[in-house]
Amino acid sequence: MSDPNRIPIISAHPPEKVQKPVKPHHTPRYYVHRVKESLATRVSKIVCAIFLTLLLILGIITFILWLSLRPHRPRVFIHDFSVPGLSQANGFENAELGFNITLRNSNQHISIDYDALDGSVFYKDQKIGSKSLFPGVHQDPKTTTTVTDVLSGATLTVTSQRWMEFLGDRAAGSVTFRMELTSAIRFKVSTWESKRHRMHASCTVAVGPNGNILLASKDKRCPVYFT
Ligand SMILES: *[C@@H]1O[C@H](CO)[C@@H](O)[C@H](O)[C@H]1NC(C)=O
Repeated sequence: MSDPNRIPIISAHPPEKVQKPVKPHHTPRYYVHRVKESLATRVSKIVCAIFLTLLLILGIITFILWLSLRPHRPRVFIHDFSVPGLSQANGFENAELGFNITLRNSNQHISIDYDALDGSVFYKDQKIGSKSLFPGVHQDPKTTTTVTDVLSGATLTVTSQRWMEFLGDRAAGSVTFRMELTSAIRFKVSTWESKRHRMHASCTVAVGPNGNILLASKDKRCPVYFT
């Protein structure tokens, strides 16, 4: 064994012979290593769990805040719409369209700033009149703004031909119009203000032979959408 010539042979083979019996029984270093390793995975698991829990709590808080602060779009209702003189054959000469529409801010804490509100009336998808209804309005939370106005003269273009179409519809029971309101709105919470959202409300409304709004159209909520 002490012969220097044999050293290469000993060192080449014994490791295989020594390792074989040791394999089933691990060295103490192996166990220490395993304990260290399991401690490390346990710690990382705990850190991971704490992190995920914090993330979940943060998510829930954000969700609740979002639910309570989420702005509701204005609720638009059409209460009245009338075409006086609808029963007269020459009614187009001084035709009038009157309406009463309300805009409701149903938010608890959010006020709404409206830019100019434009109203247009369509008949069979053709614009027959339009008017600026207000220049701009600040609406406090839980309040309603009423818009009553009349389209006539320069703001209403009804030819005798179109009036004859009205009379044809009237003979069939009702004349249907579409009133469209357009504005840009911003939501406001104390000093914070959202960007402008282009808002459209589209009210389909029918009048009966007497020119007054039909019960089916009265107080109906108008779909509101943004572009
Ligand atoms: C408009 O309709 C609302 C709701 O029905 C009503 O309270 C209000 O008095 C009406 N305004 C006008 C000017 O007719």
